[in-house]
Amino acid sequence: MQTARKKIIIDTDTASDDAVALVAALRDPTLQVLAITAVAGNVELPLAVKNALLSVERAGTYRPPVYMGAPGPLLCELETADQIRGADGMGDLGTLGEPTLAPTPGHGADALARYAGEGDGEVELLTLGPLTNVALAIRKHPEAMRKLRHITIMGGAHPYHNPHTVCAEFNIMVDPEAAQIVFSFGVPITLVTLEACGGAAELDDAAMERMRGTGEIGRFCVDCNRTLIELARAQGGVPSLGLPDPAALAVLARPELIRESFPAHTRVETQGEFTRGATVFCKPGNLYSPAFGDEPAPENTLVVTGLDVAGFHQYLLDRVAL
Ligand code: RIB
Ligand code: CA
Repeated sequence: MQTARKKIIIDTDTASDDAVALVAALRDPTLQVLAITAVAGNVELPLAVKNALLSVERAGTYRPPVYMGAPGPLLCELETADQIRGADGMGDLGTLGEPTLAPTPGHGADALARYAGEGDGEVELLTLGPLTNVALAIRKHPEAMRKLRHITIMGGAHPYHNPHTVCAEFNIMVDPEAAQIVFSFGVPITLVTLEACGGAAELDDAAMERMRGTGEIGRFCVDCNRTLIELARAQGGVPSLGLPDPAALAVLARPELIRESFPAHTRVETQGEFTRGATVFCKPGNLYSPAFGDEPAPENTLVVTGLDVAGFHQYLLDRVAL
């Protein structure tokens, strides 16, 4: 008997690795993507929407609605990542053209809450960008958002690994206030950190060629990451491709791919001069200093730091195979 497809909403700051995750999600027969909501992050909001629409078209399957969300963080200035994704966020290929699809009217945060509220506890959320839309949806429609079954977040990192800033991963760092709202909300979270997506989990030259060899969808998935690949070649001498957003999708769709994880009470640093945006992983149940009150910290996150790399790479190849 065929198991029911997992119903998901995807919130994304669509640039090159988000694009691979969107294509893979739309080509995964175990998932039903109900809606996609765009948020500013890797690129400004209009480009995130355009890249999401292009990715939906390139997936070549069904076409869920794409909504425009927040144009920037709750409180601070937007920081983009065009230096590693290209000015258009998609490797500046100059060959992707314009989408034929248009965004669906309505704010992404309201759409998130509507699909969550209508989902009767069955809908899951996958976030691939800064958490601005999710925080807005929580603040505006808390009861609807409480009906989400689970939230899988690409974000966070161990401070020592020097992610985007001295100790903060990009998605959390762009909007730390939003991230803290999401982590303190109470819907269970799986956090797929940079540690899970780096090292051997990155695609080497041979793995990229295998993906390109599957056909036009595989070529799109690799080539739109051209800026990142060339940056890796310049920095490390060999081309490689880290795919954090597809890793988060793979964890949602195939949790058996998780190899290293730990439970935590996660908080986000919003005040530190050097630590703003850092994810702080505390052992659940530990009593805190009076700064956090005297209640033991509830577990709110499964922090994922390692994947079955071969299984993850095979998952990606299976998604793009024609
Ligand atoms: O730190 C990596 C994350 O930031 C990925 O989601 C990437 O697309 C950017 O949004
Ligand atoms: Ca992203």
